[in-house]
Amino acid sequence: MSAEVEIDLYDAVQTLRLARPQKKNALTGAMYSALAEALETGENDEAVGARLIVGAPGAFCAGNDIKDFVAMAASGGGLGEPIIRFLHALARAQKPIVAAVDGLAIGVGTTMLLHCDYVLASPHSTFRTPFLDLGLVPEAGSSLLAPQRMGPARAFELLCLGAPFDAEQAVAAGIVNHIVAADALEATAHEAAREIAAKPREALAIARRLIRGDPEEIVARIDKEAVAFAERLASPEAQAAFAAFLHR
Ligand code: COA
Repeated sequence: MSAEVEIDLYDAVQTLRLARPQKKNALTGAMYSALAEALETGENDEAVGARLIVGAPGAFCAGNDIKDFVAMAASGGGLGEPIIRFLHALARAQKPIVAAVDGLAIGVGTTMLLHCDYVLASPHSTFRTPFLDLGLVPEAGSSLLAPQRMGPARAFELLCLGAPFDAEQAVAAGIVNHIVAADALEATAHEAAREIAAKPREALAIARRLIRGDPEEIVARIDKEAVAFAERLASPEAQAAFAAFLHR
């Protein structure tokens, strides 16, 4: 378990807290493994009725750690098991997931939200997926989920242009349910997750599945994107973009 992901359980809500604020909650392999482990464990724990993903003040998640991208490209091993395990766990989750976003949500910090059921964000939050500017392609099933959610025009803006969406644009695009003041965000999200966890569990699982469709279709898209992503990681375009970030 990574020390940079904190897990706790209170009022039937399993909280997954990203806790690497000094790096704006950029995700490492160890953090992906810890998140996947928590999601998988929560699925099988009767005491868990819903999950809540939270970040740090001002930084929900700055995406994948770019140093890890460089290491992945050097190893030729693609995205690696921890990332794929986390993404599959998100797609296959049967228990609802709430997220509370304060500040930056970049890359997978935004695309993971497309797997969540209820997302609250503070007014100064920003959602951005700079995949193409990094020489990369969309991941986490976002090439399927984003156009479904917001239509192809806005999905292109988000996923290909890397345009920043502010909190209001994220609500309009269907990424975020409601905007909540930063100082009330986590408590409000926890209360929402507690209320969701208190619903009849079987009925909720069935309703959720009807709303979200077949998880295996999403898993198949995650895997297809991962093949393209792995190829792009080693591309000169991506290598140049990573070097530019790391040598700023
Ligand atoms: N990977 C690795 N390190 C990251 C990171 C990432 N994705 N995002 C932030 N960090 C690190 C920075 O390198 C910096 O480390 P340092 O203090 O050792 O130099 C620290 O986090 C703080 O980031 P900084 O850039 O100083 O903060 P900022 O407020 O000026 O900018 C961001 C924050 C998130 C806008 C900027 O760091 C950024 O663009 N990060 C990359 C985001 C990205 O492209 N993610 C991948 C998407 S696929």
